[in-house]
Amino acid sequence: MSTPPRAANPRSWARRGLAATSAVVLGTTLAVTTSSPASAATGCEVDYQLNDWGSGFTANVEITNLGDPVNGWTLEWDFAGNQQVTNAWNGTLTQNGQSVSATNTGHNAAIATDATVAFGFQGSYSGTNEAPTEFTLNGVLCQGQVDPDPGDPDPGDPDPGDPEPGQRVDNPYVGANVYVNPIWSANAAAEPGGEAVADEPTGVWLDRISAIEGNDSPTTGSMGLRDHLDEALEQANGEPLVFQVVIYNLPGRDCAALASNGELGPEEIGRYKNDYIDPIADILADYEDTELRIVTTVEIDSLPNLVTNVTPRETATDNCDQMLANGNYVEGVGYALAQLGAIDNVYNYVDAGHHGWIGWENNFTASAELFYEAANAAGASPDDVHGFIANTANYSALVEDNFAIGETIAGQPVRQSSWVDWNQFTGELDFAQALREELVGQGFDSGIGMLIDTSRNGWGGPDRPDGPGPTTSVDAYVDGGRYDRRIHLGNWCNQAGAGLGERPQAAPEPGIDAYVWMKPPGESDGSSEPIDNDEGKGFDRMCDPTYEGNVRNGDNMSGALPEAPVSGHWFSAQFQELLANAYPPIQ
Ligand code: GLC
Repeated sequence: MSTPPRAANPRSWARRGLAATSAVVLGTTLAVTTSSPASAATGCEVDYQLNDWGSGFTANVEITNLGDPVNGWTLEWDFAGNQQVTNAWNGTLTQNGQSVSATNTGHNAAIATDATVAFGFQGSYSGTNEAPTEFTLNGVLCQGQVDPDPGDPDPGDPDPGDPEPGQRVDNPYVGANVYVNPIWSANAAAEPGGEAVADEPTGVWLDRISAIEGNDSPTTGSMGLRDHLDEALEQANGEPLVFQVVIYNLPGRDCAALASNGELGPEEIGRYKNDYIDPIADILADYEDTELRIVTTVEIDSLPNLVTNVTPRETATDNCDQMLANGNYVEGVGYALAQLGAIDNVYNYVDAGHHGWIGWENNFTASAELFYEAANAAGASPDDVHGFIANTANYSALVEDNFAIGETIAGQPVRQSSWVDWNQFTGELDFAQALREELVGQGFDSGIGMLIDTSRNGWGGPDRPDGPGPTTSVDAYVDGGRYDRRIHLGNWCNQAGAGLGERPQAAPEPGIDAYVWMKPPGESDGSSEPIDNDEGKGFDRMCDPTYEGNVRNGDNMSGALPEAPVSGHWFSAQFQELLANAYPPIQ
């Protein structure tokens, strides 16, 4: 896996609209409208999921409407203690003493019968933090027992599988658990301290044809796709479960780097379709009518390479020029979307690089256009795309709090610092939210959602800055304040100093379907010196800690950890460092 970045073009920058501002309004009373007539059948169930770290917490609140459809909702409850809401997303919260009232935002006002919407908030407290147990929805107590559907054989118990298996929901992560890969879990648990995260869900990578049936690679082990799906059904235990699978085997894979070159040559699009995508689709189709929600990550790093690493860019490579000319990335992605998207419970998320790659204006729109082209290729339509994923296997921080685009320091804009280098964004959250809007503008459905891979973007530990850098120069200011400690934003291989990022979670921010750990932490990005292998993996000097760089990382040191194994293989020292530098820290 690689992430050849950038090619900033200082001449062409212009400020563009960033993400929508937060919907939180505290201490303000808002009018609530509801279209439910007084006589409407009502009923609701609330799932209040708490993530508590002792003095603060976040809560994810899911409302399932068991009554007639509502359009406009207010959910109310009382805290038992001194909890204080400090910020919220996907809902507008007002608090008066212990009483809290949450109302919908513009995009989640309607809740169909049996549908679920979610919002979340952050709070502080001292003493105890009991989850509230009594909620009212539009003034009616949520008891979960009112039956809107007399035909439902089990009226008192909202079917956790609602909507029925096979029907796509807006955000597959809401109201669902996520599959824990037993092989990754065992590798993590075998490391000192690893038990703390061994139950986190990670992606299952189908990184070559043999992975479909199962091969004996150190991280895939003997489990093939069907074994994982059967295990997923066990974990689901009758409730919705997200199964995350990475589709990663394009012809001429990883055209701007060498560490994750794959088994298929640039022209082998036929084998990609017949021997890779078709068998995967056949297997997934056998699980169509189950409680699984199959989330695919489609082809890491492929399409952005056709924007940034082709002639006449100075970052061009011959392989990327070839993949642009022969059309096999676009054809392959389109084919994967079409075949997998034809399965009712598959949710396709196309890989969209990260802000340190396509966050420059001259890459951003061109990438979105190319994604749209691929979504219309080889039988695909934009309806086959449920969303996009940012930062897969990369290290870009979610948010940089200590500096911002638009600030001017010592007479120079932050964008002019060497670190930001005229990028439009400073972190993945802003990037993902803005890209979502750009993609909708290109023609994708307005309901698309984003995933962000937070597996290795935590940047905690003793070197994490606790405030902005000095204002003596724009570089001192940005370098002193930034969480992301990479030598250069274009570095991508086994980065020294990185930590685990936000734990996987559903609907953390507007437009974001989930934070996920798609890259399994502890699996190498590439070997630090040449190692013979039969996986098609090359040796990329960006994984060599002594390498002084190339045009794609501004001729900087690689920042890679030493003694790394071939990409995808277990790298214990890296896992240890990710644990130690986790942010939020591991409790
Ligand atoms: C890299 C490897 C691939 C592996 C993946 C997840 O992309 O090339 O083999 O499955 O990382 O660790």
